[in-house]
Amino acid sequence: MAIEWSGLSPGLLVRLDRSAGQPLRSQLEAGLREAIRDGRLRGGERLPSSRELARELGVSRGMVQECYGQLLAEGYLTSRTGSATRVADVKERPAPVRSWPAHRPPDRALIADFAIGVPDLSSFPRTDWAWAVRQACGEVASADLGYGDPRGSAVLREVLGGYLRRVRAADADPGQMIICTGCAQGVNLVLRALSRERGVSCVAFEDPGYGSAQADETVRAAVAMGLRAAYVPVDEQGLVVSALAASGAQAVVVTPAHQSPTGVVLSAARRHALVDWARREGGYVIEDDYDSEFRYDKEPVGALQGLAPDQVFLVGTASKALAPAVRLGWVHAPAPLAGAVAEEKEMSDRGSCTMDQLALATLLTSGRYDRHLRRMRAVYAGRRAALVEAFARHSPGVRLTGLAAGFHAVAPLPAGADEAAVVAAARERRVGLYGIGAYRGLPDAAAPPALVIGFGNVRERAIDPAIAAVADLLS
Ligand SMILES: Cc1ncc(COP(=O)(O)O)c(C=O)c1O
Repeated sequence: MAIEWSGLSPGLLVRLDRSAGQPLRSQLEAGLREAIRDGRLRGGERLPSSRELARELGVSRGMVQECYGQLLAEGYLTSRTGSATRVADVKERPAPVRSWPAHRPPDRALIADFAIGVPDLSSFPRTDWAWAVRQACGEVASADLGYGDPRGSAVLREVLGGYLRRVRAADADPGQMIICTGCAQGVNLVLRALSRERGVSCVAFEDPGYGSAQADETVRAAVAMGLRAAYVPVDEQGLVVSALAASGAQAVVVTPAHQSPTGVVLSAARRHALVDWARREGGYVIEDDYDSEFRYDKEPVGALQGLAPDQVFLVGTASKALAPAVRLGWVHAPAPLAGAVAEEKEMSDRGSCTMDQLALATLLTSGRYDRHLRRMRAVYAGRRAALVEAFARHSPGVRLTGLAAGFHAVAPLPAGADEAAVVAAARERRVGLYGIGAYRGLPDAAAPPALVIGFGNVRERAIDPAIAAVADLLS
């Protein structure tokens, strides 16, 4: 049974000392953590709304929301869209049960699983990859089989540098690149380097955002390394840069090419505003360039990094172009910080697998990587068209957004709809749907309900019957 707010006066639960040198926000956070640890707040207990607690304590509602967001990220609290924030069960703490769909194995009982972030796993170019690994093994010099440069294979860095200049209009220098284990490790290494070398103590994430998901590894890793997470809203032009400026963050993780999960492409005005913020404040932008290869209506937008190479870290991955299991990614760092990121990589694992790096270099130079991308663009374009047609046929009132790039879209639900109930009802009908609520950093019961619909790993012919099966739940 759900436990309601105990009615204890929050003033008794958490005491704020305005004469202490410690900021009120840290006091509130520490007080709530303490109350949860020592059992004054029990698992399942509902917390007062941010408005109520703010009024009781005489602080701003935004500050309470930020505290709740931080404790959600740390796993002390849980929240679902449309329902109250609660204390997490002891067994859920400190590592919360992850809810991000892409980490679940595909459910074969489903007609279609619209999980986001998953490319077409059955299209992994097995023959090309096996060929490239064989080539790499045959050609690698024995001297290159020891512990090498922690930045990774010079051959791959050279090849990738050319690729990023050509395809992403990046200002890429192989000396400033660090090969790593996907974007996940890339962002982690950058945050560590910024914290150590530049004293960065607060990092902003897009809200809703990939890094904002309560159980996401990026935000958990940031919190675990002692950074404060700030959440910055996203609107139809992408990250709201004025809110970033007000957040106090010294660095921000952003997805300009195709915002995850809203699918918005960061507008030109915002790109310039973001670069201006970074230059003015000495801030850093961590550009998560996770799915930029797939743009349908126009040429891909160039990387933000090309506009401000001294302020922007470009972080890329082979996870969408090939498969997440390849676990290869890269960081291009501003020149003065490339060494610090390389050191973090060395301290973390001494370097990524040389054979895999050489195989990727071989795929790139042979033209097979580009050929695979061309083939996949056509596959995803077909699925995207099938999704649009299926909605037009079965749910004509729903306007899909975020379709310019990548392989996920957003379907707004009617005002007042309960995302969790729609998701549960769809599963009963063997359709995997996912609410946008899991991507919110700050709990916001008033946020419009919506679904995030990934179509990367859904067979084209399954799309129409799946949408037909859930159409009445969506409008
Ligand atoms: C926005 C975004 N960034 C990063 C990643 C993680 O990428 P990687 O597999 O390279 O760690 C994902 C995975 O889906 C993603 O959606």
